[in-house]
Amino acid sequence: MNLPARGRAAGKVILLGEHGVVYGRPALAAGLALGLEAEVRGGTGPLRLESDRSIDDPRPARLVEEAATALAIEPRDLVVRVRSELPAGVGLGSSAALAVAVLRALAAAAGRTLARDEELALGRRLEAIFHGQSSGIDPAAAALGGGCFRFVRGEPPLITPLAAGAPLPLVVAFGERPRRTGAAVGALRARWEAERTRHERLFDEIAAVVEAGAHAVRAGDLAALGRCFDENQALLAVLGVSAPEVEALARAARRAGALGAKLTGGGAGGAVVALAPEPERVAAALRAEGARTIVARLEGAREGRAA
Ligand code: PMV
Repeated sequence: MNLPARGRAAGKVILLGEHGVVYGRPALAAGLALGLEAEVRGGTGPLRLESDRSIDDPRPARLVEEAATALAIEPRDLVVRVRSELPAGVGLGSSAALAVAVLRALAAAAGRTLARDEELALGRRLEAIFHGQSSGIDPAAAALGGGCFRFVRGEPPLITPLAAGAPLPLVVAFGERPRRTGAAVGALRARWEAERTRHERLFDEIAAVVEAGAHAVRAGDLAALGRCFDENQALLAVLGVSAPEVEALARAARRAGALGAKLTGGGAGGAVVALAPEPERVAAALRAEGARTIVARLEGAREGRAA
């Protein structure tokens, strides 16, 4: 074993297309500069997880154990220490970042570097401990890091980095109310099963907004991208995955000058993303509504297929 060993992975923001992406439609996402770091050290006894946060949830420890097993590492005499810059449970991909960072750290400890497709497939399997069936977009962003990309689920997924014609000034805002992506995804699946044609049509409408948004990102047309944010939010509300506090934050962002605003991630509460040429002004307005905020300026990736 090469100890200590470290792995890092990024948080993410979904710009357009959450939920539709579970049903095979495209989505746009980007890695955040904020992320999560895992360090593996020697210890005694069963593999142990330590965190800078209090963990009253058995799932992170299960994830670490399953990651070790997946990499054929005996889960003992090791301690995995995790340090996260990401708020948990708001839709910024902290579970996937945990999965990918732990995989990288354990693989490094075993003297291995994981191939991209293996990392994505294992990351998705481990993320399922938190979210049940997921599209795999979060582990993809966690593994890719910065830059905007178009994602379609699959084994392996189709990941296309998008060259942004202009940097994207974003404000992400979130409150404290606990919510779970798995619950939002599961409730939507029950509604889809009851009314498939209607939901498939809504997913197609979201897909059209995503393609218009990808075009706007490439063209650096922030006004058009902002309209896509608002159209996507309206469709997410019709799908039943929005929430009153999300609507209130999106309205406050638009009032403060955002070109568009929408929920990001699983919804039913959680984070809102606003496209804001004056991000500090919008962030201040959202903090005045009681939210915590992150300001991110996304530079576009170089165009082409990801390896
Ligand atoms: O809440 P998050 O950050 O895990 O994002 C979930 C995105 C969904 O499209 C709702 C689910 C998925 O697996 O893609």
